[in-house]
Amino acid sequence: MRERLRATFGEDAERYDRARPGYPAAVFEDFAAGTRVLEIGCGTGQATVPLAGRGCAVTAVELSADLAAVASGKLADFPSATVEIGAFEDWPLPPGPFDVVLAATAFHWLDPATRMVKAAEALRVGGTLALITTHHVAGGSERFFADVQRCYERFDPATPPGLRLSAAADVPTTFDESDRFGPPRFRRWEWELDYSTAEYLDLLLTYSGHRALPPERREGLLAAISRLIDEEHGGRITKRYLTELATAVRR
Ligand SMILES: C[S@@+](CC[C@H](N)C(=O)[O-])C[C@H]1O[C@@H](n2cnc3c(N)ncnc32)[C@H](O)[C@@H]1O
Repeated sequence: MRERLRATFGEDAERYDRARPGYPAAVFEDFAAGTRVLEIGCGTGQATVPLAGRGCAVTAVELSADLAAVASGKLADFPSATVEIGAFEDWPLPPGPFDVVLAATAFHWLDPATRMVKAAEALRVGGTLALITTHHVAGGSERFFADVQRCYERFDPATPPGLRLSAAADVPTTFDESDRFGPPRFRRWEWELDYSTAEYLDLLLTYSGHRALPPERREGLLAAISRLIDEEHGGRITKRYLTELATAVRR
């Protein structure tokens, strides 16, 4: 299932690039120019472009050739940033170790049995594993996000009844236990984005769970959400994001 879902992001690379947001600039403020970064699962460069812009030397490994092509195009002005195509699990590590291994909203798609060990092997002793995690949290258009559960309950039978968003303070931190790394440090940012109906549907069509629904259910769901935003929420909604940066030093 994980392998099927993680392949959905590359099905429409242009939409992914158009609809997926980046991250608050503060997430990258500790990445110094010249840092050698291995980025896993770069998508269309949501974290890669700001890192390259700070002068980091980024090697990215991305599962989808189509997403990698968009990312490469956006990195054309940064000769020290390159994107390779492949699954991190199978990708042969280059001989020189990295200062930082980073994954932005991507680490959870890797094989949990090997991801920490291979990330440690890619790093020099004293190097940093940096994991950006994205959560959708309570806030923004709260009434819409409560109402929209009715659409999910109707069109996606896997939806638990009465599901509600958690407050950011109640979202647990994310970091696998591993004796290869020192204790993780966590920083968090909450921020909001406004979406028109069309922009929000575009975003939903980048989510693996929505893409994997049978087409008639997905179309019914999107039509119901579209009606809800247009008819009961004035054609615009606000989504609140929680971005977490977890960092830990390789022993
Ligand atoms: C949710 S997207 C995040 C993309 C981008 N980093 C971002 O911040 O929006 C997950 C990305 O990880 C990639 N991916 C999934 N499994 C992977 C693997 N085993 N090796 C490399 N990339 C992988 C997907 O193709 C996708 O681009």
